[in-house]
Amino acid sequence: MNLHSGPERAGSAAKQESKLGEHFRFPGIPVGWYTVATSKEVKAGQVVPVKYFGEELILYRTESGEAHLTGAYCPHMGAHLAKGTVQGENLKCPFHGFQFGGDGRCVHAYGKSVPRKAKLDTWPIREHNGYIFAWYHPERTQPEWDIPVLPGPEEGWTTFRTRAIQVSSHPQETSENSVDVGHFVQLHGFGDAWYEGDLEIQGHLLKGAYGIKYMLAGKIPLLAKFNVEVHGLGYSLVRVTLPRFDAEINLLVLSTPIDAENIILRTSAATKNWGPRAWTYFVREAASFGLNREVGQDAPVWETKRYLDKPLLAEGDGPIAEYRRYCKQFYPQRAEAKTAKLPVVAA
Ligand code: FES
Ligand SMILES: [Fe+2]
Repeated sequence: MNLHSGPERAGSAAKQESKLGEHFRFPGIPVGWYTVATSKEVKAGQVVPVKYFGEELILYRTESGEAHLTGAYCPHMGAHLAKGTVQGENLKCPFHGFQFGGDGRCVHAYGKSVPRKAKLDTWPIREHNGYIFAWYHPERTQPEWDIPVLPGPEEGWTTFRTRAIQVSSHPQETSENSVDVGHFVQLHGFGDAWYEGDLEIQGHLLKGAYGIKYMLAGKIPLLAKFNVEVHGLGYSLVRVTLPRFDAEINLLVLSTPIDAENIILRTSAATKNWGPRAWTYFVREAASFGLNREVGQDAPVWETKRYLDKPLLAEGDGPIAEYRRYCKQFYPQRAEAKTAKLPVVAA
């Protein structure tokens, strides 16, 4: 199974018209937590090849249920581990049968001793709310923050309903949507949208609030309050309340780089139990459908736009400039590039 065969491909015709290099100019993949699968996509004992962060990777789940993400190539003689197997808590290479533990170290070879240097690269993993998340840092450092564990069935909420699309874009572009209230009316057809208060930025966490007026059946106004939390550029949470119905919805927008220019964008919705079970699930489905429809409207714009370092901001835009200042912390590559001595090229 390849997890990338599932998501629908968005706007590919439009993409052909954009020129690489003009599309966006970010210094690389931002540091942070990224969704690499739903929990259901990797069953106990299963080995799943994936491509994220520009690398071939292997997701597997041990027999006791722990998920791991490793490099795809065996350090012994380079076999691809897609055809590897799970042996208890280890991953076994199909070529010579060496086995690797969850920390990537070789724990079994032919002889009595194992090659001490034989180690698979591993990525830190968290698993909750039905998702497997991996920590990305270009230097492979340990996580610098955590992402929230949200209420689930034990706390009176549904599980998350997830949809996914593949888009030629970047997590900074897709997360910018959270603060770009200006496009909500024009592109998504909301009755009105307005930012409430200032952005709050606490290290990796950005918080903001805005109001939306939907027009049901084109004429009945429905007000919604959106509280946005951006926990790094791969994980945006929107806590939605609909005061008129006393309903609460959690939306997730989860952007994961396949490489420097393509992402898998997962959108998810969960609702607090609201009246009869059928109603609760109707609200969740409607929220999931609506969010997926909106990113479907965004996708052709993302795929063909240029990233402008200096956009001509206008009254009515959201706090775009603050958001972009917040984003800079996720690129340690940028600091390195500034201090590196570039070779002088003769004209
Ligand atoms: S290549 Fe994997 S055990 Fe030899
Ligand atoms: Fe949007």
